[in-house]
Amino acid sequence: MKHDDLQKEIRQLREAEKAARAEVMELNEIFQTVTEGVIVIDTDFDVLRVNDAFLKLAGIGDRNVTGHKCFEVFPGMLCHTPGCPLVRIRSGVKRLEYEVEKHRNDGTVIPCVVTAKPYIGPDGEFLGIVEDLKDISRLKQAQQELQDSFDRMRKTMGGIIQAMSLTIEQRDPYTAGHQRRVAKLSRAIARQMGFSWEQIQGIRMAAAIHDLGKIHVPTELLSRPGKLTENELGIIQAHPRIGYEILKGIEFSWPIAQTVYQHHERLDGSGYPRGLSGEDILMEARIIAVADVVEAMASFRPYRVPPGIDAALEEIVQKKGILYDPLVVDACLTCFREKGFYFDGKKNDRP
Ligand SMILES: [Fe+2]
Repeated sequence: MKHDDLQKEIRQLREAEKAARAEVMELNEIFQTVTEGVIVIDTDFDVLRVNDAFLKLAGIGDRNVTGHKCFEVFPGMLCHTPGCPLVRIRSGVKRLEYEVEKHRNDGTVIPCVVTAKPYIGPDGEFLGIVEDLKDISRLKQAQQELQDSFDRMRKTMGGIIQAMSLTIEQRDPYTAGHQRRVAKLSRAIARQMGFSWEQIQGIRMAAAIHDLGKIHVPTELLSRPGKLTENELGIIQAHPRIGYEILKGIEFSWPIAQTVYQHHERLDGSGYPRGLSGEDILMEARIIAVADVVEAMASFRPYRVPPGIDAALEEIVQKKGILYDPLVVDACLTCFREKGFYFDGKKNDRP
């Protein structure tokens, strides 16, 4: 090779080396700049590389951890288990993302989201894994605070519902406890039908105030036995709409106002106030309709002997699919006949 050619090749090699060095420096800069902790681990669990954010996250300071075992440097719940990301990725998993508690050097525990991927060499060989760790303590704390505030709000709402329920019943002592008992049965039916906990809360609350509109019905009309005039009947039958009007402005997480509006509707359209039928009636309202009629027939009123629970269940069986939703009726029967449901702990509530 001529001298000039040799010089040229050396120059080219130096330039390539310089470019490679610049590239490594650039990559290192990026590696150290990212705010999430990054760790590269080989197939023997030895740490190959970490960035500054990782050292800070693990509470290690500037100690050199290269060559140390990853499960000693920043241990977590998955260390020494089949869930270990190195074990899983080595067995063929391409990417992992999971939440885990990690133990910092000072003994504190922090929740992290970890993303793990294979670390592949230039010839495609498996060299280990790269993990990216994000501290989610603040997120968790914010989540918890939000949950606490939500729970407090729900408690307050429950208290308000209860207060409203008692206020209505104060006006009509003959039916005291009716809404509470209907709420208890509605909840049992909804549970039997497989509704979620969240949906059950909504049904329970709607049931607890389903007769809220009776606040506009004169007290003497509410408890008066005997036949009512058409006008009086009209006043009483307006109570679902009045309840709806009172509740419609409140932003509940459930369709409480509509459920209250529909609790006297019947499957065949013979109910009131709007004569809705079938699927147009909310399932929540179909549940309360059954619970309402069963409670009313089973309970004592000063002006009449109660038909009793057997008669109440007979009534819903006879009108199943006509007035009452068949699934609700079946669930109600199961509650009484198989699950031992009772309204107030009185034996005569049971069939
Ligand atoms: Fe009612």
